[in-house]
Amino acid sequence: MTDAEAHMMQLFCELHSEMPRQGPGGAAYTRQAFTMLTGLPPHAEVLDVGCGPGAQTLTLAALETGAITAVDNHAPYLAELRTAAEQQGLADRIRTAKQDMTALDFPAASFDLIWSEGAIYIMGFEAGLRAWRPLLRAGGFLAVTEATWLEPDPPAELAAFWGEGYPGMQNVEAALATVRAAGYRPLGHFTLPDSSWWTDYYTPLEARLAAFESHYQGDESARQISDMERREIALFRKYARYYGYVFYLMRLEP
Ligand SMILES: C[S@@+](CC[C@H](N)C(=O)[O-])C[C@H]1O[C@@H](n2cnc3c(N)ncnc32)[C@H](O)[C@@H]1O
Repeated sequence: MTDAEAHMMQLFCELHSEMPRQGPGGAAYTRQAFTMLTGLPPHAEVLDVGCGPGAQTLTLAALETGAITAVDNHAPYLAELRTAAEQQGLADRIRTAKQDMTALDFPAASFDLIWSEGAIYIMGFEAGLRAWRPLLRAGGFLAVTEATWLEPDPPAELAAFWGEGYPGMQNVEAALATVRAAGYRPLGHFTLPDSSWWTDYYTPLEARLAAFESHYQGDESARQISDMERREIALFRKYARYYGYVFYLMRLEP
């Protein structure tokens, strides 16, 4: 990594620190998705991939009684999660592991459930579904949120932005076909409401952006980061009906 790249990364991480979440979501939607996993064994062994500061990890730990392994490649998020788990008396059931989601280092068939909110896009929906499958036990479950086109023919400026940011974004029908092709049976899906983008993510991010911009006035890297974040938020404000996060629940085909 060059010095310029390292500076950019440090600024990005600083802007995104101390936020309740690092993407759209909310405890109510984590709970709703969990209730759709009919047949999940008691004391399920869970892997949470791209856990960030762990909002959904803590919600899951209150929903089930097994152990949860929370993985992220950004150590400060894992430290935030460990602190919160200790405060909530959940430290004995939440383990953290700093790992790369593209090369997870766990024995095959280790988990009953793999969970991932707002993170599978990092390696791509299909690649993630296929790469994580061997880690599931027979009949294992997978629950992910994935950025999804909700309406056809998005406006050109929106299509251009996401065409660059996440060219693999599919509509629901195509995503479900990907689920089946990757060896899973879809159990259900639902779209997260617009409010789940604002409450714990864009609203605190906008508040942090104002302070970030004034602190880093004259820093070109900071300006680029801030422009990109503000553009993403402005597009969501304008075009939320065209895309969103969809929760996909699925189970390994026998
Ligand atoms: C959009 S955030 C979602 C975080 C969390 N699930 C939430 O909803 O708040 C994506 C997370 O993936 C992590 N991440 C990015 N690349 C990764 C990689 N290659 N391996 C593991 N985690 C990664 C980031 O550090 C970040 O915490």
